[in-house]
Amino acid sequence: MSDQQKERLLRIGVPSKGRLAEVSSQLLNEAGLPFRRNERSLFVRCREMPIEVVFLRTEDIPVLTAEGAIDLGITGADLVAECGMPLIHRLDLGIGSCRLALCIADDSAVSDPRHLAGKRIATSFPRITRRWLTDRGVEAHLVELSGSVEIMIQLGVADAVVDLVETGSTLAANRLRVIAEIGRYETVLVQNEQVADGALADRIVRRLEGIVIARSYSLLEYNIPRGRLAEAEAVTPGFHSPTVSSLEDPNWCAVRAMVRRGEAHGIMERLEAIGASAIVETSISNCRL
Ligand code: PRP
Repeated sequence: MSDQQKERLLRIGVPSKGRLAEVSSQLLNEAGLPFRRNERSLFVRCREMPIEVVFLRTEDIPVLTAEGAIDLGITGADLVAECGMPLIHRLDLGIGSCRLALCIADDSAVSDPRHLAGKRIATSFPRITRRWLTDRGVEAHLVELSGSVEIMIQLGVADAVVDLVETGSTLAANRLRVIAEIGRYETVLVQNEQVADGALADRIVRRLEGIVIARSYSLLEYNIPRGRLAEAEAVTPGFHSPTVSSLEDPNWCAVRAMVRRGEAHGIMERLEAIGASAIVETSISNCRL
């Protein structure tokens, strides 16, 4: 760790532009780390804690974290994997999920990656791509680019591309199709291996974790006849066990448990089918497990 690293505030690198910029700022805000960005400055001091937010290119965040210019960084796991430098993975942020895929033109006869031996493949992920091809014994010429990979077959410089796919609309617009999935990634928080203030970094991670978990869970509350409680608890086991409270009517009780947000509708239907009533789903804004 450099002397400079020891003396300065803890630094968090966040994407300065692109789709991750806004969601990262929002996440830090919700985690009680508010800051007001000044367009002219790349640094901003967080009002609540001794930390500094640094706005950087998403692609540069892995290397700048590994080099110690920043202590924590929000970036894509795809970029971390491509960077290949030693970093501590602290948290999956539950956003920006995408896959890296080997794609060819819709009307191409290629159906297997092995058909690409000796061909040209355009990508912004040369390291991941090279490793993946080598593992399969395929030797191809890589055309390394920093963007707009999706048009390279049309431009005539590649026979296939390795690109990120999120919604699939870029593939459709450029008449491409996936022949193999290389990896799945999401937005992550990474840390330098020698952070000066590890306790502060841990606090930040716990705060962000509270928001990430809160976003993927809901709180379900319902009333259930005592005789059906065991069945209901099997449907909503909660993390450790659900909270069960007595009601004025001794034949009924109230249950409270966290459930995965995406599963809430199905769970409510199952609870209703076993006799639950007054089933209420509430959003959670923050939590510590
Ligand atoms: C990324 C990626 C794909 C596209 C996939 O490009 O390289 O082209 O998003 O998203 P979709 O499946 O939702 O269409 P980005 O917009 O980041 O710009 P880039 O081409 O400069 O990399």
